[in-house]
Amino acid sequence: MNTINNSRRNFIKTAGALAVGSTLPLSLVELAFADSSQNFTFAYISDAHIQHIKDNRFVRNWDKGLIRAVAETNLLVPKPDFVMFGGDLAQLGSKPELDHGAEILSALHGDVHHVMGEHDYYLDLGEYWEKLFGPQYYSFDHKGVHFIVLNSIKTYDDWTFKRWPTAEQRMLEMAGLDNPNGSPFMVGEEQRLWLKNDLAKITKDTPVVVFSHSPLQKIYKGWNFWTEDAEQVQALLKPFKKVSVIYGHVHQIQYNQIGNISFNSVMATAWPWPYPQSYAQAEQHLPKLTVPMNRADPFFERDATGWQFINMANGNVDLNFTLYDNSSRVVRYNGKQKRPEDAVYQDEKVRIVPQTHY
Ligand SMILES: [Fe+2]
Ligand SMILES: [Fe+2]
Repeated sequence: MNTINNSRRNFIKTAGALAVGSTLPLSLVELAFADSSQNFTFAYISDAHIQHIKDNRFVRNWDKGLIRAVAETNLLVPKPDFVMFGGDLAQLGSKPELDHGAEILSALHGDVHHVMGEHDYYLDLGEYWEKLFGPQYYSFDHKGVHFIVLNSIKTYDDWTFKRWPTAEQRMLEMAGLDNPNGSPFMVGEEQRLWLKNDLAKITKDTPVVVFSHSPLQKIYKGWNFWTEDAEQVQALLKPFKKVSVIYGHVHQIQYNQIGNISFNSVMATAWPWPYPQSYAQAEQHLPKLTVPMNRADPFFERDATGWQFINMANGNVDLNFTLYDNSSRVVRYNGKQKRPEDAVYQDEKVRIVPQTHY
């Protein structure tokens, strides 16, 4: 226990030092073990939304967010063992966008693993993305932890293959956040079967970390903060003692606990999404968010973008966020409550309430 506490203290010290003077949209994940020589870290960058304008011109803000994250990742001490990119590298899935994003990411030192986002997928159903980055779902082991990457942004075949006259229109329809013509995300039967077989190869006490693009839980269907077969995926993960799901897509800080699974989002390098009051009004709101959350200011365009450290001491996830204005937020696993909680804003009196949008 002491060793773990020491690891955590050292980790927080390191995180604090790195946070000074830096406002970058990346994550560093630390997995701390009883034998501290086994500890390791990885970095996490997500939702760059590289957007092509014309010729060699791209939306500058989104380029800049990713370039800064890459530069800072290369300067991290300790050096992360690998880097995760959490999906939505492109805005409309085009070759120029994916190529430009890949070129920016190519400056990263070390291995990079990729998660598929809907903005990468719905133009050619991942064909070009696969050429650049490899399979759409896979797993790997690193120092005793089993990491799983899922493509969670698939949807019903009718919608994908029959509904739209062109691939471009299909992409545009899925790219809209609140477009009623969109369709709910899902992992799908083929991947769930693969996941079942993959999980059969590891013991029940192996720490499992799942990376997805959409939340593997049902938060708000209207904005596709949602995975249609979330319960079925959760059921496959249920027998394991330590399970964490880390996801992008929502461009904001979220955390939740469902049974044995801790859920944490990471922030985007592009822009924040606001926090709809409608979370509480959503139809079929199952399972609902079990932990009340603090809300950021949707009128501050950089609120809820930034960078984050993730500490997995004891197999649970603690996220240390540094927001764009250099203020910090910590969402840490509460061992007594058995759920993630905001270290400062959990108290109702200081929490920012959800905003109403018209
Ligand atoms: Fe995104
Ligand atoms: Fe997304």
